[in-house]
Amino acid sequence: MPDTADIATIRRATAADAAALAELGAATFTETFGHLYPPEDLQAFLAKSHTPESWAQTLADPKRAVWLVVHESGRNIGFLVVGACKLPVEQLEPSAGEIQQLYVLAEFHNLRLGGRLMALGLEWLESQGRTPLYIGVWSENYGAQRFYGRYGFSKVGEYGFPVGKTVDREFILKR
Ligand SMILES: CC(C)(COP(=O)(O)OP(=O)(O)OC[C@H]1O[C@@H](n2cnc3c(N)ncnc32)[C@H](O)[C@@H]1OP(=O)(O)O)[C@@H](O)C(=O)NCCC(=O)NCCS
Repeated sequence: MPDTADIATIRRATAADAAALAELGAATFTETFGHLYPPEDLQAFLAKSHTPESWAQTLADPKRAVWLVVHESGRNIGFLVVGACKLPVEQLEPSAGEIQQLYVLAEFHNLRLGGRLMALGLEWLESQGRTPLYIGVWSENYGAQRFYGRYGFSKVGEYGFPVGKTVDREFILKR
């Protein structure tokens, strides 16, 4: 397995990355989950959650941090968003943090890019005093659940995540 330092660098994203993140966010969501939804639900979700405008808001939020994985070719191939916890957790701790979005394009999986993003996100959350930490993950995304399990996250609840008119069953993980 090649050392991923050879093929990609990871940097904090800035306001200038809003359009690139909208494109990458839509591509990774569609690649991972697109087959689960009627096309109109997928389009409604992407039109709300992965536009340059929605990403500009995320990037301007001082309670969040975003990293971008840039391949040596210049192509954007992964990203991470962390921040204050926005999940519907009962009696949520005011200092709670969340791994909000973690995506690497499938052709670049298993190169430790996800692991490197997690290390950066966990370090930032700790520096902000964010504890405990939560993650929302699709109930049937077994690979991601296994990945997060290695970081000490385990299931504490469930909620419904809307994608257009479809409502997904999501697990809430905590550590
Ligand atoms: C979850 C995700 C971000 C992980 O990214 P990744 O870059 O593939 O992660 P890593 O390479 O750090 O680790 C992945 C696997 O490679 C293995 N691995 C990593 N480095 C390794 C090495 N040097 N030697 C052998 N195996 C290694 C890990 O053990 C892990 O195994 P797993 O299949 O049990 O999880 C990625 O799978 C992804 O983007 N999935 C689609 C989107 C998604 O589901 N996101 C989460 C939504 S909640």
